[in-house]
Amino acid sequence: MRFKDKVAFICGAGASSPGWSNGKAVSVLLAREGAKIFALDSSAENLAPTVEAIQSEGGTCVTHTADVTQQSDIKAAVDACMKKWGRIDILFNNVGLQSLGGPEELEEEVWDRLMNANVKSMFLTCKHVLPVMTAQKSGVIINNSSMAAISFLYPSIAYSSSKGAVDAFTKNLAVQYAGKGVRVVSVRPGLMATPRITARMKTKFGDGYEEALDARNKVVPMGRMGEAWDVAKAVAFLASDDASYITATEIVVDGGLSASSLGHPWADQEKNL
Ligand SMILES: NC(=O)c1ccc[n+]([C@@H]2O[C@H](COP(=O)([O-])OP(=O)(O)OC[C@H]3O[C@@H](n4cnc5c(N)ncnc54)[C@H](O)[C@@H]3O)[C@@H](O)[C@H]2O)c1
Repeated sequence: MRFKDKVAFICGAGASSPGWSNGKAVSVLLAREGAKIFALDSSAENLAPTVEAIQSEGGTCVTHTADVTQQSDIKAAVDACMKKWGRIDILFNNVGLQSLGGPEELEEEVWDRLMNANVKSMFLTCKHVLPVMTAQKSGVIINNSSMAAISFLYPSIAYSSSKGAVDAFTKNLAVQYAGKGVRVVSVRPGLMATPRITARMKTKFGDGYEEALDARNKVVPMGRMGEAWDVAKAVAFLASDDASYITATEIVVDGGLSASSLGHPWADQEKNL
């Protein structure tokens, strides 16, 4: 029970399609190891299966509906968590929107929406959680980045830029707080078969879905896309005392893809995913 008596504040704890999203798997895994889960999401509907999964295993979870791009929502959520449990040991910043296209295709409004949801949200959660963690003289902040921060997968200028910003955010914050008992790290998933992705592939490829899935699996050196549990296990390690000397860096969860020189043969078929 690595997280007995610990409180985990999970932003984006729901799943946008049925199945195991990153936020849901992380919430369930931390709860299995004793953490009390403050599960935050903008959608009560997306959040419900996460809570059900935790409670069906005897875990502890409260839900909170909030928009991570709104400072008043974040402040109210942190206050609610403090009122309930009096501490926050783990903050997982998991909300991340994706939209494909380069500067010519993407509307300005979409750029702003992604930057707000993917980057500004982390600024806001940290603004309100850091005073709690520094007062405790302990805490771990884990940000969900993406391989898109460092590699071209398909045109996704806003998403890639936002995840690059997440990496810079993580390192800068980590060094500022390294002497205050707070670690700041990130996970960098590669190609993942989470429900948001597979649902989108089903819509795009229809009868060709299995073939597209197969092609996507094959470009990963380990021969398969990752799943949310792969991310969750990395997050649990980073959140635990086993990682007590690890800060200002990331764990890459991509089956070897970002180090591979095979190229990206799926790029054409994925262009409009
Ligand atoms: N799935 C992948 O292939 C993959 C790969 C690399 C990185 N990631 C990153 O993992 C994270 C989660 O991805 P996923 O596919 O598991 O997520 P998902 O879309 O299934 O779930 C994200 C949750 O965030 C919530 N949310 C969205 N906007 C919000 C807001 N403004 N305030 C509060 N909650 C909000 C949604 O309601 C949803 O329940 C993202 O940051 C994503 O960039 C995913």
